[in-house]
Amino acid sequence: MNDHLKSLAYFGSMPYFSNLIRNDCRNIADWKSFKKLFNKLFQNGWYTNHGPLAQELEKRLESLLKVKHVICVTNETIGLSLAMKALGLQKKVIVPALSFAGTVQSLIWSNLEPVFCDVDIHTHMINESQIKSAMNNNVTGVIGVHMWGNSCDNSILKKISNDYDIKLFYDATHAFGCTFNQKFIGNLGELEVFSFHESTIINSFGGGAISTNNDKLAAYIRNSRSSYGRGKLEPVSLTGNGRFSEAQAALAILSLDNYEQRIKQNLQKEKLYKSLLNIPGISFINHPEDEKTNYQYVAIQIDEEKFGLSKKELAVLLKAENIIVNKSPFFPLVYLTHPANVHQQYISTKFENAISISNSLIQLPSSEAISFDTIKKICEIIIFIYENSTQIKKKLR
Ligand SMILES: Cc1ncc(COP(=O)(O)O)c(C=O)c1O
Repeated sequence: MNDHLKSLAYFGSMPYFSNLIRNDCRNIADWKSFKKLFNKLFQNGWYTNHGPLAQELEKRLESLLKVKHVICVTNETIGLSLAMKALGLQKKVIVPALSFAGTVQSLIWSNLEPVFCDVDIHTHMINESQIKSAMNNNVTGVIGVHMWGNSCDNSILKKISNDYDIKLFYDATHAFGCTFNQKFIGNLGELEVFSFHESTIINSFGGGAISTNNDKLAAYIRNSRSSYGRGKLEPVSLTGNGRFSEAQAALAILSLDNYEQRIKQNLQKEKLYKSLLNIPGISFINHPEDEKTNYQYVAIQIDEEKFGLSKKELAVLLKAENIIVNKSPFFPLVYLTHPANVHQQYISTKFENAISISNSLIQLPSSEAISFDTIKKICEIIIFIYENSTQIKKKLR
């Protein structure tokens, strides 16, 4: 790439990539294996009713995560709602101001009021002082959201939940296969809920799972999920038909088959980005060395002063090159969007850390379809933008 600004698509050139570089699918099944499993599905003649593939998947997940119960569900948002009912939550639940819309919307679907609190500027997760500042008499639970393959500090959150006698549970979308104190995520709190959205390491055409070591909770959730696969009979007031199909299970099983390979590949991609983007104004989210992580997302923060451009400006320039960097799940911040913002008090609340993270964070493309050569090209473009940031800034004004 020459050093003239016109070589950037935003200023008139052709996009560097002719196809969209999306950051979505983190686990692509091998077509032949998928066809083989689908043949089995058709031979079984069993499609939705918690059939053999869904049963096999739950068993395999329980054994991988070393947890007593895994209950697969249609998607994580439904899973969170079933979980909240099973936990008997009432009135208010503390939730981080920095999370995906579904975390908060499932609370609202469950007739619970979110009480937002800020997050730690370094970990992007809730910490002790933030939870305590959000606490009031009507709070019956707190939901921790694990971020970027790292775990919330479960020891501290557990102590707070014991001290205040409130339920602790987790949104574990970012943390399948990750650990806290060498224990797999899936075993923390009363329960944890995973997403198997295509952007996660386990891909099931959308889907999710609830994990718990509590037999009674598991029985309640299995019975409220649907009338299929309900296991031990447990009286529930409502059923959610949040069941998992055999097609979902087939794809998820294939994700599990190559899961270790995907983690290795994710790590190599993160390492490549880190080695090439060693430039001022870009910082990576790091992982504790003594814990397992999935390297599912490569998240960076842009320091506008040092990089010369804001995250928003960088994202626009990259988009013109057909490189889509995920600005979500935090843009705009969930507490400011409908229906969370019906709670007027939050509109004027400034959660400084969440705002600063949301304004500086992007996810770099690292999904399975993105080759190492593509990553090198993306980095080349970002470096070119950085080296010409002063001129670009002037042109953008
Ligand atoms: C943190 C977080 N929570 C919840 C969800 C919702 O997951 P699902 O699409 O399975 O409902 C997502 C989806 O990306 C997420 O990132």
